[in-house]
Amino acid sequence: MDSIHIILYFISSILFILGIKMLSSPLIARRGNIISFLGMIIAIITTLSYVEYEISSIIYIFSGITTGGILGLIFAKKVQMTSMPQMVAIFNGLGGLASSLIAFSEIIKVNNTISFNLISVSILMSILIGSVTFSGSITGFLKLQSLITGKPILIPLRNYFNLLILLSAIGLMIVSVLYSGNTLIFYTLLGVCLLLGILIVLPIGGADMPVVIALLNSYSGIVAAFTGFIFSNVALIISGSLIGASGLILTRIMTKAMNRSLVNVVLGGFGATATNIDSEASDKNYKSGSSDDIASLLEYSENIIIIPGYGLAVAQAQHSLKELLDVLENQQKNVLFAIHPVAGRMPGHMNVLLAEANIDYELLLDLDQVNEKFSQTDVSIVIGANDVVNPAAKLDKNSPIYGMPILEIEKSKSIVVLKRSMNPGFAGLDNNIFYNEKTLMLFGDAKDSIDSLNKSFKELN
Ligand code: TAP
Repeated sequence: MDSIHIILYFISSILFILGIKMLSSPLIARRGNIISFLGMIIAIITTLSYVEYEISSIIYIFSGITTGGILGLIFAKKVQMTSMPQMVAIFNGLGGLASSLIAFSEIIKVNNTISFNLISVSILMSILIGSVTFSGSITGFLKLQSLITGKPILIPLRNYFNLLILLSAIGLMIVSVLYSGNTLIFYTLLGVCLLLGILIVLPIGGADMPVVIALLNSYSGIVAAFTGFIFSNVALIISGSLIGASGLILTRIMTKAMNRSLVNVVLGGFGATATNIDSEASDKNYKSGSSDDIASLLEYSENIIIIPGYGLAVAQAQHSLKELLDVLENQQKNVLFAIHPVAGRMPGHMNVLLAEANIDYELLLDLDQVNEKFSQTDVSIVIGANDVVNPAAKLDKNSPIYGMPILEIEKSKSIVVLKRSMNPGFAGLDNNIFYNEKTLMLFGDAKDSIDSLNKSFKELN
């Protein structure tokens, strides 16, 4: 590769790294996206201009880029925030499929003959990881979209069976080198890897699926890096490694916030035995109020913390919430937002939602910063959140969420909870905080409840 191409790939890689770095703050995330986009444009032009790649049909390539670009734009514009994990699953799956297909085309190019060298190992790894990523991501998509059951599908002895399939895939990879030239071995390897991806994801419940999607995202990066080795393409190796590493870091952040190990998530079964509301729940007492009651409570409160959760996203109540924030701030109240790392259904879900409504990023506090503030808080307003404020995570050793760090709202003087019913959240567990004597429930869709709260508050002033 000549020095001009190396320099251009180097520039595009720097832009990728800068872009990812900028995604860490909502203030500069959009710019980060644009910078990564520029990096990708440079990488594509550099690749297309590299004569040794012997690009035969530029028309095919541009039709692919245009069709993919238009479809990506349409889906990105249309997708609901709550469906983002599904969309990421599809993207990962397509990335894995692309790498697998590229590896296959290389095998066809060399008449199925491979030997034991870096390129052959990269081809075989691209088929293995690419097809596991593809079939695993599609299975994850079907579960998240409720096209198949979201509950864990537990096949007896599944872990031993999966291990056996993985060993068979490795065996086939070795055989493909020893008996080079045999097409059937590659098709069998492909079939075995696709089956492995499905079987790995089937036992994992919907509750853990976003973690698995982050892990598959990491796989799609690793496979892209292997594909980069096939063509000695530096930009692909670097960008693939970046995705692989960031996907793994994200997976680690999520498992830590749920107090689970990655092995525990991947072995599956979480939620299969989780109880729904326990039988005693219906006997417990809770207090419910009207928007007027809560407006009066807020009128006499000075320090308020809002805890947004999945229900806020479902109700698309972020703009009404901004209105409530403005109303409260006009009354000189101190309002903060407590953001749990796994509130909602995807990493950063609440940050994105609140940023959409132009809520000042400075008001958002994460778990460590906010927990010490609850004891000086007059009212904690929980909006469509449940598991992230469930004290069972601290108190009940038998709870499936025991050990998960939570927002300690029970320390505040009063608690208000906006949700539609006494139904449980994602983990399927009853929440004792709703029966606490300090808690007042406001039932209804979060947007309707906040709108009526805004109205009641304005009428008071
Ligand atoms: P959840 O525990 O799922 O609770 C959401 C609550 O919102 C429900 O109890 C529901 O009660 C209420 N709700 C739903 N639609 C509503 C609407 N239109 N208006 C008002 N309320 C509505 O949410 P959370 O506290 O945000 O916790 C997130 C959960 O997802 C955790 O268990 C977490 O481990 C899991 N999870 C998150 C992630 C990431 S990365 N965020 C990844 C994997 C798993 P009603 O039905 O009674 O309204």
